[in-house]
Amino acid sequence: HSTQVAIVGGGPSGLLLSQLLHVNGIDSVILERKDRAYVEGRIRAGVLEQGMVDLMRRAGVSDRLDREGLVHGGIEIAGNGKRQRIPMDELTGGKVVTVYGQTEVTKDLIAARLAAGGEIVFDADGVTPHAIDTDAPYLTYRKDGVDQRLDCRYIAGCDGFHGVCRASLPQGAINVYEKVYPFAWLGILARVAPVADELIYAHHDRGFALFSMRSNKISRNYVQVSPDEDIANWSDDRVWEELSLRLGPDGGDLVKEGPVFEKSITPMRSFVAEPMRHGALFLAGDAAHIVPPTGAKGLNLAASDIHYLSEGLIAYFNRDDAEPLARYSDAAVARVWKAERFSWWMTSLLHKFPGGDRAFEEQMQLAEIEYLLSSRAAQTVLAENYVGLPY
Ligand code: FAD
Ligand code: DHB
Repeated sequence: HSTQVAIVGGGPSGLLLSQLLHVNGIDSVILERKDRAYVEGRIRAGVLEQGMVDLMRRAGVSDRLDREGLVHGGIEIAGNGKRQRIPMDELTGGKVVTVYGQTEVTKDLIAARLAAGGEIVFDADGVTPHAIDTDAPYLTYRKDGVDQRLDCRYIAGCDGFHGVCRASLPQGAINVYEKVYPFAWLGILARVAPVADELIYAHHDRGFALFSMRSNKISRNYVQVSPDEDIANWSDDRVWEELSLRLGPDGGDLVKEGPVFEKSITPMRSFVAEPMRHGALFLAGDAAHIVPPTGAKGLNLAASDIHYLSEGLIAYFNRDDAEPLARYSDAAVARVWKAERFSWWMTSLLHKFPGGDRAFEEQMQLAEIEYLLSSRAAQTVLAENYVGLPY
């Protein structure tokens, strides 16, 4: 069969693109390798910039987000035995972030696509792009053991870091930049009220810790661990103990334990592939770039890509104007590098780097945290990036 835009990957990028195209009268089909329950259950990000919330509204899928999302006007930074609130709203002329899990974003988008009669092919095996150097590209795949072909005008590669789209581009078509960090995050979800009303990012000599949430009853906390750490070494008790220690002097009083119902380890890397287009194939989201999670930019960067890509496709199909689509990669990449810089900076500021002879670097880290906690100018820089740079 055929469609206007064939979308590979039914994560947040692919789903949001499909829904935004739909409300603008453009037809798309999503090919997703996994099943619906797997996609909806994948526990990842939790902090949405205003730009992403606005996109969800424009896509007509913000009812539950508007009702249940927790609006946060600040974050706290702990380090050097202190803890201090950074009033992001005050420093940015009223901008805020919304805490709402990626699982909920994908559930809302899948429900909206299916309710509108949209086609999502789950369990699509062996998806392969063809003829991307032409005006008539197509995808082949297998569904229930039967070979299928999907013709289209454009392909959107929204298939994540390990997807097929970037991997299928010819050698030399894109430049790749990468940095792997010497640590990882162990994350838990627990049925207990969060430590504080807002997120706390903590620097500590034992390693970084982050206190986040999914609701007033569910905590989402992370501790820095070694990248080759065996999760079996981390009992719930050990995780709570480290969280208490790393929060600083009053950590033991603040951290309340509760039943842990999810625990996993995330490696950390920075990665950019550009340009984000080759012929009729566009890359968006994690398929084109990865940020380390400090700063909560991964999902939000996927959303800004989809903003530029959807605007380009809408101009092309509805107004016969190919210009915005031609500018897609340049527009998206410019914002990607700024978010890469911020995520790299916040990661470098707050983590304990392993290895000996780092006394000078550690003093620099402490001095930078002190500066951040005492300078309104430094806090403004953090705040304007954290709430999200304009599209
Ligand atoms: P994905 O969510 O990866 O979706 C890609 C989709 O494509 C998947 O459904 C996949 O099954 C499908 N797919 C892959 N290959 C194929 C194929 N060959 N054929 C068909 N379909 C395919 N960001 C934050 O901001 N904060 C966090 O705390 C955070 N934690 C994270 C934890 C982990 C373990 C990971 C991996 C990421 C985390 N991120 C976090 C990043 C954030 O979740 C991603 O940036 C976001 O999911 C990107 O969305 P996406 O749709 O581009 O990619
Ligand atoms: C969460 C994840 C992040 O990477 C972050 O910076 C803040 C919050 C979270 O999962 O809640």
